[in-house]
Amino acid sequence: MLSRPGRPAYSLNGMSEPRIALITGANQGIGFETARALGAAGHTVHLGARDPERGTKAEVTLRAEGLDVRYVRLDVTDPATVAAAARTVEDRSGRLDILVNNAAITGGTMDPPSTLPLDLIRSVYETNVFGVIAVINAMLPLLRRSDAGRIANVGSGLGTMDFLTHPERIGRRYAALLPYNSTKAALHAITLIYAAELADTPIRVNAVSPGFCATDLNDHAGTDTAAQGGERIADQVTRSGAWPNGVFLSEQGGTYPW
Ligand SMILES: NC(=O)c1ccc[n+]([C@@H]2O[C@H](COP(=O)([O-])OP(=O)(O)OC[C@H]3O[C@@H](n4cnc5c(N)ncnc54)[C@H](OP(=O)(O)O)[C@@H]3O)[C@@H](O)[C@H]2O)c1
Repeated sequence: MLSRPGRPAYSLNGMSEPRIALITGANQGIGFETARALGAAGHTVHLGARDPERGTKAEVTLRAEGLDVRYVRLDVTDPATVAAAARTVEDRSGRLDILVNNAAITGGTMDPPSTLPLDLIRSVYETNVFGVIAVINAMLPLLRRSDAGRIANVGSGLGTMDFLTHPERIGRRYAALLPYNSTKAALHAITLIYAAELADTPIRVNAVSPGFCATDLNDHAGTDTAAQGGERIADQVTRSGAWPNGVFLSEQGGTYPW
């Protein structure tokens, strides 16, 4: 346990020492709340955001709460900012223990898949798929310096074959979200592929779930709050003991089927 002036004792959630975390897309929503929850647990957080104004505002808010959170500019679709963010994390912290690939977009439409412009679908892949690969590859040298690196890809039940073959469980209209669901399915596959590549290292790679949270992403249709989602992600990525490898962690404990 750590304690800091003006705040109750921190709990590291079973971790023996504060960890260094980077969260993409952390200026708002679940990413912001994950930064808040990890910071409140005593960890150091690099708060990734593509927009300097929004990123700085988020940093100011969380630092005012006494948390060790610093903004780093990071647009996952812009290789120059990805490389610069890796240098910044290295300069500030020298290593990375936890990478949360949280940034994502939906494409902003419920139109039938067969009517969607290819460019729109491509833009969702740029962020949700290629952006994640770019960030993982850029951060791997820093994660390799950790005694127990953890890569958490924020997955979605909507991207599981389990849901897509049984859409009535959540809702058929959600099953038609081609860009979002198929990019999350790709993200799940990417999780398994990196987990296999890194299996002989101390780095573990899993998908994590925030639950269904009211955020801009779903026009605030979620049943839970972004704060709950952030606390769940923070809980999953700091779970004590050996982290599993290549699973989709459920916010309720246990795992989801792919
Ligand atoms: N909400 C849910 O119920 C739910 C359920 C399952 C999984 N998830 C996942 O949870 C994660 C967070 O979603 P959310 O609900 O919190 O959505 P959100 O409020 O829309 O937040 C998305 C974040 O991603 C950022 N972002 C978008 N494109 C980016 C880019 N190119 N580079 C860097 N950042 C970028 C956004 O930044 P700007 O502010 O600059 O746009 C924003 O900070 C996503 O991976 C989502 O798929 C959400």
